[in-house]
Amino acid sequence: MKKPRRSAAWYGKLDKDGFIHRSWMKNQGFPDHAFDGRPIIGICNTWSELTPCNSGLRTLAEAVKRGVWEAGGFPVEFPVTSLGETQMKPTAMLFRNLLAMDVEECIRAYGIDGVVLLGGCDKTTPGQVMGAASVDLPAIVVSSGPMLNGKWRGRDIGSGTDVWKFSESVRAGEMTLQDFMAAESGMSRSAGVCMTMGTASTMAALVEAMGLALPTNAALPAVDARRTALAHHTGRRIVEMVEEDLKPSDILTRAAFENAILANAAVGGSTNAVVHLLAIAGRVGVDLALDDIELGRDIPLLVNCMPSGKYLMEDFAYAGGMPAVLAQLRAHLRPARTVLGGDIAAYAEGAEIYNTDVIRPMSDPVKPAAGLRVLRGNLAPDGAIVKPSAATADLLEHEGPAYVFETIEQLKAEIDRDDLPVTPDTVLVLKGCGPKGYPGMPEVGNMPIPAKLVRAGVRDMLRISDARMSGTAFGTVVLHVAPEAQAGGPLALVRTGDRIRVSVSKGEVALLVDAAELDARRANWRPDPPHYTRGYAKLYVDHVLQADKGADLDFLVGKDTRPVTRESH
Ligand code: FES
Repeated sequence: MKKPRRSAAWYGKLDKDGFIHRSWMKNQGFPDHAFDGRPIIGICNTWSELTPCNSGLRTLAEAVKRGVWEAGGFPVEFPVTSLGETQMKPTAMLFRNLLAMDVEECIRAYGIDGVVLLGGCDKTTPGQVMGAASVDLPAIVVSSGPMLNGKWRGRDIGSGTDVWKFSESVRAGEMTLQDFMAAESGMSRSAGVCMTMGTASTMAALVEAMGLALPTNAALPAVDARRTALAHHTGRRIVEMVEEDLKPSDILTRAAFENAILANAAVGGSTNAVVHLLAIAGRVGVDLALDDIELGRDIPLLVNCMPSGKYLMEDFAYAGGMPAVLAQLRAHLRPARTVLGGDIAAYAEGAEIYNTDVIRPMSDPVKPAAGLRVLRGNLAPDGAIVKPSAATADLLEHEGPAYVFETIEQLKAEIDRDDLPVTPDTVLVLKGCGPKGYPGMPEVGNMPIPAKLVRAGVRDMLRISDARMSGTAFGTVVLHVAPEAQAGGPLALVRTGDRIRVSVSKGEVALLVDAAELDARRANWRPDPPHYTRGYAKLYVDHVLQADKGADLDFLVGKDTRPVTRESH
């Protein structure tokens, strides 16, 4: 027997409660037949003028609605918290779990049968997927899509990646401030997310590889009419998914996460994918651990996009996008169901590479083994990660003296000092930037190279932190050190002059100080007083898990799929 429609508990009742639910909705002009028992589809929209990457989502929402009506459903759009990566302080990551809570509670509280998640900017995709996974109604993603390629003075420039390069050039005296300012307008030329393979495009790619969005969703430019058509198709498909009762728990299996890890290596994806995948897995009860990230270790880098390569997302889309990548990965992909109901292999059927310098075949990759690596040792007992494809090969095996910044404020005050006692061999260490410490684990792990070394031509150094780094950034940076300094991890005990050894080939990050000395330091260590003492930030600091667990809030792990039975009136 067919499951009763969830929305019937709101709109199907012939009593006072049903009257109230329907009547107030009718003030928007919805006719009687909208409430005739058809699937009601929520369109969960993270549009905001303060999230410029998601500024195209209103147009896409209208296209989704057309598809929903066409397939016999009733679309209802609703807003949720929007997280503008480049606009929020102290960091959008502080609010990812707030968005996830907002999404979860809205989906649960309203009388909808399925949901289309409209997101794009870095934290909006994982936050929405986390929230939807915890309710487990049929759900499908439509991403913002990337901005058009940046253009400046006759060449392509990429969001983020070129900002870091320009900024270093200004500090080295190789670029004028006027030119630096002039590049701003050329970088962001249309609606859409960063057009490098930053976190937004990475998460869009992984959502596609996990089968949570229709094929080609990841790469089509935001302003490409084909993205609008894809949104229309998605509206049609979600109605069918409700009829089929195809839920996130049917799609987000262990195999889907493994496919995401393989895809992340192949596209040269962001390190941020690690915390997001771990957090999503926690919601659906998939036993994914930090070390599983190394499943992608031997997968070659196929997508030649910044920051690991040279092209941009628009090029990636025209070269074939994710279907072409999945076709190359075919021999490695695990069988996994998708929003289309079939196997992920179907996404790759008929896919071709149209530019073999942008998407390389397995036989001629950009780099041979591109997956993220997990490091452990007495400096990171619960793990840390590094992205070899964006690093300097020589620094992946390195030992040197530490120069420690206890806080981000100290780093900003000192990094350009001419008398900073550092050499290219120094290991820069930044503390206090983990989930609890900052709070929110910001993207500051790719510390700037000290100005005096930049002027001497140094462009990379080994850096270690409990922070994250932007998906658009590059460099030899050991990130997500767990436990973080503020939680009392060994990182808190490092002092300037201590020797640190990193060996990516051995998966090691070691503080070369004897245990007795570290015990003595620990006895005198105290956490910093909290920066926030009220509101959501206090809730976050009190409950956030460490990076190796996805930095979700402890009480949000898992799901609750029970029906809501109590009425408000
Ligand atoms: Fe929004 Fe990069 S800042 S996607």
